[in-house]
Amino acid sequence: MLQDIPTPTLREARACVLETERLTLRKPTLADVKAIARLANDRRIAENTRRLPHPYTQDDAIDFVRAVADGGRETVFLIENNHTPIGMVGLDWREENAAELGYWLGVDHWGQGFGTEAARAVIDYFFEEFDLDQLISGARVVNPSSRNILEKCGFQWSGVELHRFEALGSSSPVDCFRLSRSVWASLKSWNNSIRRKG
Ligand SMILES: CC(C)(COP(=O)(O)OP(=O)(O)OC[C@H]1O[C@@H](n2cnc3c(N)ncnc32)[C@H](O)[C@@H]1OP(=O)(O)O)[C@@H](O)C(=O)NCCC(=O)NCCS
Repeated sequence: MLQDIPTPTLREARACVLETERLTLRKPTLADVKAIARLANDRRIAENTRRLPHPYTQDDAIDFVRAVADGGRETVFLIENNHTPIGMVGLDWREENAAELGYWLGVDHWGQGFGTEAARAVIDYFFEEFDLDQLISGARVVNPSSRNILEKCGFQWSGVELHRFEALGSSSPVDCFRLSRSVWASLKSWNNSIRRKG
């Protein structure tokens, strides 16, 4: 019977490569584990991401890549600049119809706008590929650069929650944000106006 045939979920079916001006975002493979472990093994990253352990070993990277390949609950993209891995960005599907945006970059690559560029690519992917009305995200209250990325992308503050951080071994306050489809569509269609001398 038709309903007995297992079909891939929408998010598995739509895995693809995203290109921006400076970045390529693609699915990580086992060939990337050394690079992922080298980039992720930094306390400044782990303390701002919920599930990254510290120290972060190659075995952690292998487990992570395998979980992604097995179609776990995350849609993950490895971020490359000039064919070199620099970080990770993705959507965590907490439930079938609710996704959370998350990202981290190797410390050597901070402060060049790559975080914003990668986030924008995945936000476009989310709203263009899925018929959902909002995307959520969060940043520790002590993480102004991540908050800045979210605000530049149109996210609006929705409150503070306590979330557990693996590397801290404790919970920490997180500013929660949401981006609605209507705000995203408005930003995407905000073309420059023309000024004429009167
Ligand atoms: C958050 C992170 C991805 C930022 O990446 P990035 O490429 O350096 O970010 P961008 O350069 O795109 O943008 C950061 C913005 O924050 C601003 N910023 C940086 N430090 C800041 C500070 N201390 N106070 C206020 N603003 C700050 C930058 O000026 C920039 O804004 P601008 O483009 O308007 O100048 C990176 O720092 C990281 O991986 N941190 C650890 C993991 C993490 O925090 N992940 C997010 C959790 S969801």
